[in-house]
Amino acid sequence: KRQRSAFPQDFLWGGAIAANQAEGAYKEGGKGLSIADLHFYTSEKTYGSMKEDAALKNVKQSLVLDPNKYYPKQSGIDFYHTYKEDLALMQQMGSQCFRTSFNWPRIFPNGDEEQPNEEGLLFYDRLIDEMLALGIEPLMTISHYEMPLHLVSQYGGWANRKLVDFFSRFCEVLFERYHSKVKYWITFNQINLISFNSVGLLRDRYENYQQATYQAIHHQLVAQAMAKMIASQYRSDLMVGTMLSDKIAYPATCKPEDQLFSLRKNQMQYFFSDVSMRGHYPGYAFRYFEENGIQVEFAPDDEQLLQQYPMDYLAFSYYYTKLNDSFKDSFDPTDKSSNPYLKSSEWGWEIDPLGLRIALNNYYDRYECPLFITENGLGAHDVVEANGEIHDPYRISYINDHLVQIAEAIRDGVEVLGYCLWTPIDIVSCGTAEMSKRYGLIYVDRDDEGQGSGKRLLKDSYFWYKDVIRTNGDKL
Ligand code: BG6
Repeated sequence: KRQRSAFPQDFLWGGAIAANQAEGAYKEGGKGLSIADLHFYTSEKTYGSMKEDAALKNVKQSLVLDPNKYYPKQSGIDFYHTYKEDLALMQQMGSQCFRTSFNWPRIFPNGDEEQPNEEGLLFYDRLIDEMLALGIEPLMTISHYEMPLHLVSQYGGWANRKLVDFFSRFCEVLFERYHSKVKYWITFNQINLISFNSVGLLRDRYENYQQATYQAIHHQLVAQAMAKMIASQYRSDLMVGTMLSDKIAYPATCKPEDQLFSLRKNQMQYFFSDVSMRGHYPGYAFRYFEENGIQVEFAPDDEQLLQQYPMDYLAFSYYYTKLNDSFKDSFDPTDKSSNPYLKSSEWGWEIDPLGLRIALNNYYDRYECPLFITENGLGAHDVVEANGEIHDPYRISYINDHLVQIAEAIRDGVEVLGYCLWTPIDIVSCGTAEMSKRYGLIYVDRDDEGQGSGKRLLKDSYFWYKDVIRTNGDKL
């Protein structure tokens, strides 16, 4: 006999996007350039250093964008202008929460100003008010790969301690303005997925890039503790969380050496949440730093700050799993040895629903704190039929299988606050800046070169998810 829904009544069902992949309007309302605005599309669709190259070039050429290149994130899906209609579709689907981010240079065009850009804030006033009017709980990410370009070109990104101050000022403005409207916050998107996107380091500027990276991470960990400190001055019940990209990988074999290798690799992934949730650096990290010639500089109050302001919950994204034998630290999820037991998505991401139950249990066993799945979904090519219908059973089955495992984890005793599907609506891909890698339940008529009417169409998965929400996951 099938068990009844495991999902609690107040479980938040919703969807997630990021400002830089959706808003567009990259020059409107006084917005400055972000590093995402430099991500140009190439038909090779490779991951890696495109953004970094573009940034480097721009730093050298004083911000001249190449007129022969197409930068999809500059126009996104025009969400800046269509948010009302898009949110209405999400509400009709039953969405109870919606995660997006504050586009940092919309509010601080260069990042180092003392006063924010009021016009940028007015946009978020409208956006958040609209969500609330529709009965949708906002879940706001403070930093989702949208660092003002100026903070890279002028300050060298997060390796520079000054970024802590700039970010804190940004947080002060946000918490002051939105503390009564927004309860759920995420400090940094996928703080453990280190890339140019997240820390803004130009490799060729550093002799010891790894050292610079961990210094940058330290600054982010301190900055998020400050964010929590600021938040708690406004409201004690605000939920400020950090976010991981789940990268806890399987050992390659049962050989003890492989187990140990895997344990140590995974520890350096847990490092980010260990510091965020437990408030101090773990011993294994010091050993890793010593063995790798890394010295992280602490300012006098850092230790105390980390200790005093741990995060309230742990958010994470979950797409695929890997093995710990040739797990590289690059962003490219296809850059791996493969797991013979799993099938892959069209983009080579290995699909592993059971791994989500394991991840939820692992994090909960480790921290006993509430968890929030803030990204999970399938990127795929979709076909629009002549009658405008879009049949995407592959997406439905991906989401279904993952939700089944979330239910199992809840039965295991794990506390899960909610599930934000990536994405309720098609947006520009983060890694490859293509439009044809579609995650949405709502189709957006726009192609990789930016052609198309921008019209929204509802996929089969939209109606399926609507039913899942309506029944609180009862029929999975
Ligand atoms: C996550 C990011 O890593 O993966 C999102 O937080 C991103 O911004 C998502 O879109 C999927 O990656 P991609 O490259 O397929 O868009």
